[in-house]
Amino acid sequence: MKILTTIAATRRYRAKCTGPVVLVPTMGALHAGHGALIQRARKLAGKRGTVLVTIFVNPTQFGPKEDLSRYPRPFAADVKLARACGADAIFHPTPGEMYPEGFSTFVDEHTVSLPLCGASRPGHFRGVCTVVLKLLTITQADVAVFGRKDFQQCRVIARMVRDLDIPVRLDFAETVREPDGLALSSRNTYLSPAERAQAPVLRRALLIAQDAFAKGERSAARLRRIVEKQIATSPLARVDYIGIVDDDTLAPIRTVKNPATIALAVFLGTTRLIDNLQLR
Ligand code: PAJ
Repeated sequence: MKILTTIAATRRYRAKCTGPVVLVPTMGALHAGHGALIQRARKLAGKRGTVLVTIFVNPTQFGPKEDLSRYPRPFAADVKLARACGADAIFHPTPGEMYPEGFSTFVDEHTVSLPLCGASRPGHFRGVCTVVLKLLTITQADVAVFGRKDFQQCRVIARMVRDLDIPVRLDFAETVREPDGLALSSRNTYLSPAERAQAPVLRRALLIAQDAFAKGERSAARLRRIVEKQIATSPLARVDYIGIVDDDTLAPIRTVKNPATIALAVFLGTTRLIDNLQLR
């Protein structure tokens, strides 16, 4: 497996690829959720194609009080996992390579980025869009794979790709979970044993809401209260947001008619976890 650290080397590597190039952007600290994305990319690329994983803890998507410096960076283990899942190459640039002195151009999406995580993490999606556009431009990927765990991120990137006519096909993969329902996340390693024990409450709350929806509940306010009540059963959990939004526009809704998603962010101690569920 090839390790690429510069943009120039990545462009040269890309130019020699003959089949489809499938990109899996990550910030590393790879777990089985990332692994599933890489395996999916392998299938999409086929034997002739190339699976390119990027590992870059992108500073522009972290707020000033967020976990940029303590974000885990276990590069050797990441290389091992990426290789085992079928990656052909890893692009692992330094911050200086991606954002050289004088860097001053950013991508701002102005609708689907605004609610939910966009409201709690100002500037986050600006950083995500900017780095993803750079990665797509550098790699000229034919397909890029993202996880539905980051529901809003999927919507924001899809909007950017559409609005800016970026020639890539997006592929969205299901969330990989622990047996108790907790969505795998690099940030789960921050949880204390007590917090970890309570972390499945996010998934549990979503499933209880889904159950009410299946039984006919269509009021977003009542579905929201169901989620709130369940989260409140965990003393270490503190809600950041609970949003019940239209699947495409991410606008808040009052009555669930069209496909809608419940998205939530919950703090367990200082660790912020997200999850979502599509109602249909
Ligand atoms: P990161 O959090 O490392 O996630 C990389 C990709 O893995 C994202 O598409 C994310 O949705 C997916 N992923 C994370 N946990 C998952 C799980 N449990 N199941 C399935 N997929 C999962 O998301 C980012 O990095 C960054 O914002 C990035 C897009 C790389 C831009 O910097």
